[in-house]
Amino acid sequence: MMLNWDDPLAAPLPGVQSRPEPAPVQQEQKIAESAPVYRTTATDLEPPPVTEKESANDAEHGPYQAATPATQEEASAPQAGTIKQPEVAVAAHRREVAANTPFTPMSPINPEDKRVINGMADINQLAPFKYPWAWEFFINANRNHWTPLDINMAQDVHDYHHNLKPEERHVYENVLAYLTTSDILAMRNIGLAVMEKMTAPELQIYQARQVYEESLHTWTYQHCIETIGLDQSEIYNRYRVVPEINQKIRIGNRRLNAIMRPDIDLRNRDDLQEFVLSYAFFAGIFEGCWFYNGFSPVFALQRRGLMKGTGEQLQYIMRDEVMHIAFGIRVVRQILQEENVTLDPQEVRAMWDEAEAAEAAYSRYLLPQPILGYSQEDHHEQFRFIANRRARQLGLDEPFSGAKNALPWLDEQSNMRKEKNFFETRVTEYQTGGALKWD
Ligand SMILES: [Fe+2]
Ligand SMILES: [Fe+2]
Repeated sequence: MMLNWDDPLAAPLPGVQSRPEPAPVQQEQKIAESAPVYRTTATDLEPPPVTEKESANDAEHGPYQAATPATQEEASAPQAGTIKQPEVAVAAHRREVAANTPFTPMSPINPEDKRVINGMADINQLAPFKYPWAWEFFINANRNHWTPLDINMAQDVHDYHHNLKPEERHVYENVLAYLTTSDILAMRNIGLAVMEKMTAPELQIYQARQVYEESLHTWTYQHCIETIGLDQSEIYNRYRVVPEINQKIRIGNRRLNAIMRPDIDLRNRDDLQEFVLSYAFFAGIFEGCWFYNGFSPVFALQRRGLMKGTGEQLQYIMRDEVMHIAFGIRVVRQILQEENVTLDPQEVRAMWDEAEAAEAAYSRYLLPQPILGYSQEDHHEQFRFIANRRARQLGLDEPFSGAKNALPWLDEQSNMRKEKNFFETRVTEYQTGGALKWD
């Protein structure tokens, strides 16, 4: 929906559908507004005496519930106005202590105290850097800036409806269906499971940028899906009904959930192993292979002059992903070194095998018959070839000895500088691509 940015509260611009009227105030909101507020002074440290009525509710709600419903209607409403008095009192006490504690200047941080995880240096102080390369990643990431609206998609609309064969439309739709779900998972992984565990701000700052980029990628797929006129509900739901897509998402979700649990403790060696293996999976396989290789069926169309706008959109995404992969792998290697961790070879082997089996099934679904210049065998073999590269970068043994470079054009395709001369979809010059390095 478009907003009038001069006055975001003003009426929508002409031709823009209005938001619905706000819903009437609900009962729970009224309760929230009228709920008792405890005074937050240091004298409130002791909870009030428990009344007989409150005591009867203890088994379910605990002893210090602020309000006891007076009516049946209130009783059935959510407890939006409930305030646990001990929490309020403790917070008040902390504020009181802080206010009365004289300020003592602290000594400068020692960057050597920084560690990727389990560090002891002040997380709020950026410099001196211990990991200047992480800051460089952030600077470089800001040089690859675009939005999907910058790229002309008019020819893609015509190509999809008039020039693509049914098997090519199948490839195009499913690549988007897989990628859009994957990018949301990637955003959640880095934003919710990884970033909070970093103990050096220069690492978190690049990851904050990465979270933004993953959401930009999601917008890009949505823009392609909407512009082409695909059935959005059906495309977004596809990962829930196509087992070969679902399997890859399920594997990613499993590793994400394993490290998002609240009781994970990175000073525990088993938990540490699980975290590093999960991060290695996301950087080396989920992004490093499945994403890197996931764009290539559309690039194959692009090379034939089809769906060139989408191809260029994916090239911009590819640039971000190459940096995500390089950064993630570097962080994993840093953790392995700092924490003196060696990944369990059997678990690593199982990780590669599971990823390969999922990718092989996906390639069979995606390409039951080859399209011109691209087959399921190409896709599968390229996964194995790229997996060997990621393993070497992670300092691991190659999992698929002898794998061939089935798509020798893929690395060049990811390089916008090379391809830009004969793409005519974008009128503005790419700003600073020459500064980026490629793996
Ligand atoms: Fe992404
Ligand atoms: Fe990514």
